[in-house]
Amino acid sequence: MSEEPDDVVRRERFSGGPARGFLSSLAADERIFRADLQVDRAHVVMLAEQGIIDESTAGQILAALDAVEEAGHGALPDGEDVHAAIETAVIDRIGDAGGKMHTARSRNDEVATCLRHRLRADIVELAEAVLAFRKALAEVAEAHTDTVMPGLTHLQPAQPTTVAHHLLSYESALARDTERLLAAFDRTNRSPLGAAAFAGTTFDIDRERTAALLGFESVIENAMDAASARDFLTETTAATATLATTLSGLAEDLILFANKGYVDLDDDYASTSSIMPQKKNPDTLELVRASAGDTAAGLNGLLTTLKGLPRAYNRDLQRAHDHAFDAVDAVTEATEVAAGAVATADWNADALAAAAGEGFSTATGVADLLAAGGLPFRTAHEIVARAAEGSETADLAAIEAAAAETLDESLDTYVEREVLAAALDPVESVASRDSHGGPAPEVVEAALDRAAGDAAEAETALDARRQALADAEIRLATEVDGYV
Ligand code: ARG
Repeated sequence: MSEEPDDVVRRERFSGGPARGFLSSLAADERIFRADLQVDRAHVVMLAEQGIIDESTAGQILAALDAVEEAGHGALPDGEDVHAAIETAVIDRIGDAGGKMHTARSRNDEVATCLRHRLRADIVELAEAVLAFRKALAEVAEAHTDTVMPGLTHLQPAQPTTVAHHLLSYESALARDTERLLAAFDRTNRSPLGAAAFAGTTFDIDRERTAALLGFESVIENAMDAASARDFLTETTAATATLATTLSGLAEDLILFANKGYVDLDDDYASTSSIMPQKKNPDTLELVRASAGDTAAGLNGLLTTLKGLPRAYNRDLQRAHDHAFDAVDAVTEATEVAAGAVATADWNADALAAAAGEGFSTATGVADLLAAGGLPFRTAHEIVARAAEGSETADLAAIEAAAAETLDESLDTYVEREVLAAALDPVESVASRDSHGGPAPEVVEAALDRAAGDAAEAETALDARRQALADAEIRLATEVDGYV
């Protein structure tokens, strides 16, 4: 049997017995240690302002909380969780007065508030990493608006494009990932504190006040919803898993391109073999690719844990939030690594240019030309398909032969030879596809401007949120200072 004193929640009767460790989340709760202290502080300040506890008691509790913070999570007494352990530590320090801290609240609203408080900061950090990655992608793209490369579908040569156009496709996806994270932040940034167990309280509390002291944008009204809801975890984990899926596609492309000699990864982002000395392997990107698997599993674990839980609080919820924290941690790191790999990679323009025309990748452009000259696109498609059948790199002669078999009139009716010859060149092919969102260099320049504008906007939105959290920290510290 443990020699430890019983915590304030268990007392003697619920000492935990053999299941003591099983019940306890204290170790994992290190993640919300600081958040819990902030939640305690805001609650105590509000209790004093409302006259529910007197000011000197508030001062004693707040001073004890400072000491508990100073000692750190590792110095907490044993307990079912960080909430109970901190309360025990406060009572250990100041005696019975410490027992007033838990007036008009429950661990149910407390933990929900701590989770939201901590996750907000984590989402900001992840979104910052995504923004930095977007900038890295735009910077590399800027340098490669003219670097022609093969564009693939079904992993086969499809149409030539540029490195800039390719990389910006991921920048656009990451822009949406940023939006999703900011939306998840905004719905996380609402306060459940004051819901108590789920049914409110008889005390005259001020929920708006604790929400403001903790920097929350609003209060979650229905107390049962406030204590039970974990959809902020689902939403954040889903946004994170979606981001990880974006990253995994980009990692796969880079792995493939490195394999073909289109891109050289910096040694810092590669690894070697313990037996085969010649190897340079894209291990970091393979691990980025794998993080999508972990994160999808985490989302599934979270949803499965939440599915069918009845109202209101159930202890299953203690097993829910680590899925979100683990996903956010892993994907923040994967985002930073992927950004570093992209920023330091060298694109091999010659190999890319040589490969860009392989597999008659300019065929679509040739068909477009014939159609622009008046042939029905379907007929043009048929001619070019016939030309492609015989040869890997269809030339003018092959197209002429195919046209002669298909058409009664001369090919000259529809297109000039020089124009046709130019269309077979990957560089010309790219330059001609100047529709909105296409790869033509001047179109991509415009897209780069748009991307820079969007990134600046996202940065402003993120800064505002980060600043609001920092301001709340200062406000709460100032209030606390008034008591201790
Ligand atoms: N540690 C718990 C959690 O993470 C909070 C405690 C609430 N416990 C309870 N039996 N009502 O969800």
